[in-house]
Amino acid sequence: MYHLFLHSQLDYRRDIMFTAVLVLMSVSGINGWTDTKVRRFRDNFLFGAATSAYQVEGGWDVDDKGENIWDRFLHEHPGVVADGRNGDVACDSYHKYQRDVEMLRELGVDHYRFSISWSRILPTGFSNEINEKGLEYYDNLIDELLKYDIKPMITLFHFDLPQTLQDLGGWANPLSVEWFEDYARVVFEKFGAKVKYWITINQPNSICVDGYGGIEFAPAVGSSGVGDYLCIKNVLLAHAKAYRLYEEEYKAKYKGSVGISLSVNWADSYDNKTENIESTDLYREFTIGLYMNPIWSKEGDFPAVVKKRVLQRSLEQGYRKSRLPEFSSDEIILLKGSADFLGANHYTTTLVKKAEKRFPSPSIDDDMGVELSQRSEWKTSQSSWLRSAPYGLYKMSIHINKVYDYPPVFITEHGWSTMRGLKDSSRVKILRDYFNALLFAIEDGTDVKGYTAWSLMDNIEWTAGSSERFGLYEVNFDSKEKTRKARLSALVYKRIIEERIVEENWKPDNLNISITKRKKYVKVEL
Ligand code: NOJ
Repeated sequence: MYHLFLHSQLDYRRDIMFTAVLVLMSVSGINGWTDTKVRRFRDNFLFGAATSAYQVEGGWDVDDKGENIWDRFLHEHPGVVADGRNGDVACDSYHKYQRDVEMLRELGVDHYRFSISWSRILPTGFSNEINEKGLEYYDNLIDELLKYDIKPMITLFHFDLPQTLQDLGGWANPLSVEWFEDYARVVFEKFGAKVKYWITINQPNSICVDGYGGIEFAPAVGSSGVGDYLCIKNVLLAHAKAYRLYEEEYKAKYKGSVGISLSVNWADSYDNKTENIESTDLYREFTIGLYMNPIWSKEGDFPAVVKKRVLQRSLEQGYRKSRLPEFSSDEIILLKGSADFLGANHYTTTLVKKAEKRFPSPSIDDDMGVELSQRSEWKTSQSSWLRSAPYGLYKMSIHINKVYDYPPVFITEHGWSTMRGLKDSSRVKILRDYFNALLFAIEDGTDVKGYTAWSLMDNIEWTAGSSERFGLYEVNFDSKEKTRKARLSALVYKRIIEERIVEENWKPDNLNISITKRKKYVKVEL
């Protein structure tokens, strides 16, 4: 359609703006310009839904599970959660996983992305003690999924580090790389034969920037501008070690694929001022490049501009070397190419301006020196950071193609938050708008293998508790049964999966949802 890729940087920017306008026009049908072409998701495009262990399982101390950093954080600081609800019981998926699988069958999805709680299967954090009851829970869940031809996609780590390991420094300790590799080995050994899609680590930026740099996220280390960078280095290495482990010992036997899920929200310049465009490029390097470059760039390593910037600020601040630790040449090689696919978590878009104010230093904010905002016209959700800008998904995809040479992409998260209530028409609109943008991205050359809705059901949205609801299914947290009910969006998603197209005006007669027989799709190599 629009072949942008051979153009100069400047042409690229202009074209991309132009294309984005076209996307917006066709998505919203404004200005009388209507694109009548019906775009379809190909038959082997995978649709799924996602959750994570701490957010849904509950059973926080049953059957010998060890304590993790989120258990500790929310028990010690109950006041940090908006509505006081923590993950002790959550959706009680530890006991209700059969209902969860039933919901997946109602939706007609191809895959279910869920995570394993490290401390549930290794209560000490180390592989000296393996908790068979913990393994049994995941084995039952996997079998239940396979019984109905739903592919398990397992995230090894979704924020819930065993507390024992945190007591030793957690991800700031370079030995965490080995701890993670040992844990990954236990999981691959046990489930490798049944599970073909693996995600090593979910959103290193949240783990490190929020949890080690900041204090709003467990383990709330608050080592701004230092601990966050240490953590990023170790988390990326841990990912690479687990990837290589699978590659060397399991891939030939089990033929699965291993990726990493990164937060790839889009960032656009606030306006056309050169300084803001430059700040936006820098911001992208700090938020996308820092994690993608070591794995997907030709030269490997952290982005040169980030290294330069952090070194310069560190020296100015009296440090003897950069606060951003270096990778050795062996580590650069270990990381380069260590993913079969990019797990893309995409939610929103931000606007970037060069900062006028100074941030506390040292900090990543100070190193980047940017101010962020969102357009007031963009539809708001129940989360302060989340507004709808579907064109951002398109632009992010094209950016990644251009900079990282068309990596295979699997959308491992995308979603929208609302309040309670089954008639979630705002989520329906967002789903349709983002699917339209995704279809454009695919048409323009992005190799997207699948899409995963966040989330299958309402869950514990970290420190927002249950005050921000992301579920296709509503969960009644006050009921003993943690009853789940399909929202309107669940029916619309089901219909899109069945028909493979986005129908703007389709409405179900009522909110009843039932299991329908799903077409079998061919296995997708990632
Ligand atoms: C990304 C995280 O992976 C997930 O845990 C969280 O609930 C969603 N974003 C929504 O904030």
